[in-house]
Amino acid sequence: MHTRPRIAVLPVAGFGTRVLPATKSIPKEMLPIVDRPALQYVVDEAFAAGITHCVLITGRGKAAIEDYFDEAYELERALERKGKAELWDELKRLRPKEGTMSFVRQQSARGLGHAVWCARDIVGDAPFAVLLPDVIIKGKPGCLAQMMEAYDDVGGNIIAVDEVPEADVSKYGVIKPKGSLDGPLIAMSGMVEKPPVAEAPSRYKITGRYILQPEVMRLLATQEAGAGGEVQLTDAMARAMEAGSPFHAFAYQGQDYDCGSKLGYFEAVLAHALDHPEIADGARELVSKA
Ligand code: G1P
Repeated sequence: MHTRPRIAVLPVAGFGTRVLPATKSIPKEMLPIVDRPALQYVVDEAFAAGITHCVLITGRGKAAIEDYFDEAYELERALERKGKAELWDELKRLRPKEGTMSFVRQQSARGLGHAVWCARDIVGDAPFAVLLPDVIIKGKPGCLAQMMEAYDDVGGNIIAVDEVPEADVSKYGVIKPKGSLDGPLIAMSGMVEKPPVAEAPSRYKITGRYILQPEVMRLLATQEAGAGGEVQLTDAMARAMEAGSPFHAFAYQGQDYDCGSKLGYFEAVLAHALDHPEIADGARELVSKA
């Protein structure tokens, strides 16, 4: 039996330049997808997968995130006084239990790999999960829960992947598959961050959910800047793999939305509205008229 990761790292320090000016004074992770911030969906996915502690890697201007996961004392007392018990209950239900979330500041924007490395003291010498909150994945069970099941069988490192059109591969980390599909698991022989289209080893993009072994965290300490002049998680994973750490890609069941882009964000709002118990009918009617 492989010991499942208990700690998840969620990097939330990015600027959100693709959805400016909305993100000038609001963290992009706090943009609402219908009635809850994008980040809530990702935190829910992590806890639903058996994660017991989330480490959020924040930065300057991201204080709203910490406040959001805290008790809002005045607001909650006001809801109680006004008899809005349902709303109050929902806030209490969504609030993580005390002590199950840590916030670490990344002091300089040096890339995803560096952001993940900022969690090293909390993660310690144990397997850990990484969820990129730009990406919301609609799936039942959630993507990380599906990966945990696969992890029970194969252990090691597991990276969620999804096929994208060839023209899009240079926006992502891309894996090099080895052999054919074995259920949702794909054996790998390499990976590369944001390759030119002509050099991409496949059309499988790295989606933003990872189960990683401690050696990846150790290698991040010495990881030099790569694509875009940033310290890339993909490069540290590639080194771990070359050094013999086992890796599988995982083709999950579900739909991902890149909420860091205008169209992806709109698509996420649309999909969640069409699925929302309160507004699904109204949303469908609006869409049919558009
Ligand atoms: C990051 C990762 C990349 C992955 C992508 C998924 O890139 O470095 O490997 O494919 O997230 O969204 P970023 O979008 O931060 O440039």
